[in-house]
Amino acid sequence: MPVDRKRNITVDIYQIMLPVKVCFGVGSLDTIGDEASKLGAKHALIVTDPGVYQAGLVDPVKERLSRARLSVDVFSEAEPEPTLPGLNAAAEKLSQEGYDLVVGVGGGSSMDTAKGLSVLLAHGGRGQDYVGINKVPGPGIPIFTLPTTAGTGSEVTKAAVFDDPEKRSKFGIQSPYILARLAIVDPTLTYGCPQRVTAVAGIDALTHAIESYTSINAGTFTDALEVEAMRLIAGSLRAVVKDGSDKEARNHMAEGALFGGFGIAHAGGAAAHALAYPLGSRFHVPHGVTVGLLLPYVMECNLPTNPTKYATIAQRLGVKTQGLSLQEAAEKGVEAFKNLAKDIGIPLRLRDLEIPEEALEELAVASMDVTRLLNNNPKKLSLDDVRRIWQNAW
Ligand SMILES: [Fe+2]
Repeated sequence: MPVDRKRNITVDIYQIMLPVKVCFGVGSLDTIGDEASKLGAKHALIVTDPGVYQAGLVDPVKERLSRARLSVDVFSEAEPEPTLPGLNAAAEKLSQEGYDLVVGVGGGSSMDTAKGLSVLLAHGGRGQDYVGINKVPGPGIPIFTLPTTAGTGSEVTKAAVFDDPEKRSKFGIQSPYILARLAIVDPTLTYGCPQRVTAVAGIDALTHAIESYTSINAGTFTDALEVEAMRLIAGSLRAVVKDGSDKEARNHMAEGALFGGFGIAHAGGAAAHALAYPLGSRFHVPHGVTVGLLLPYVMECNLPTNPTKYATIAQRLGVKTQGLSLQEAAEKGVEAFKNLAKDIGIPLRLRDLEIPEEALEELAVASMDVTRLLNNNPKKLSLDDVRRIWQNAW
């Protein structure tokens, strides 16, 4: 943290890169037609998954775009945990259509597929060509993102994550060129989200808040967002999983997930996300389950690096820390996260997912390759540290 010598205070230096516009709130979906017209878009591709399509969530989006005189096609085959071969096949199928707007409607999978298609339809090639940091050569087809879960925050991030079945891990395309032109976060789109998806997406959102709050890249901007994200999510997640018709809780979750997305877009995910990649890829476990299960064990390992921040996490998760030492308060935060995960049906141990103990060594070695995320972790992790996390989580 640099020091402003004139005023003798410490100040963070940071850059903020967000979508061109974020519309948040009940009814914000209504802005989509005007926004598409302002761009001069004529031919839109809506990218979604079969569940979201069958739930009827694409209809109001399509209707509003059609009313604004766009011709609209729908690709409703986004995979639940999208893969690079799936992305390549979709791009090949759609390459001759001449789209000038890609609209991702759904959870992270649909939005990430939309981002990937924006790149491939504009620049050609395969998804593998753009994996890594800043490999996209220029702007793609403009992207609108409309989340229907309160989860990934992909609507405002500059990353899209895909499974590579050949390499048995997940890989991110990370580039400012895949930031959405417009993110519409209308909580009404989440009101019908099924209970299990609500839980799995919600714990992912909370993990984003905690990992980016404790990332080595965290600063005053992301801290402010993440502290509020933790409050919003921890205060609503149990309620919304218990009763999906609780609109106030749904609204808080949507806003918390958005803030979590802002944070992870700037400070980055860390070890829980790094370890989740090979686990999700090899054992086909949904992303939210992998990060929700692993985070408490990562927190235990990271806690000595900044007990003050971990004590704040405890407070934001509802722990009464008065009378506790800093260390005790910080440890209570780990416990509070586990309790919340348990209450919403997230497994607490790898053995609950029937992951064999013999797989841990391979998972540990594969995790060490996810340097993009491990480099953000507050503690520099050795292979032995990572082995210990896997063993504790088993
Ligand atoms: Fe995540």
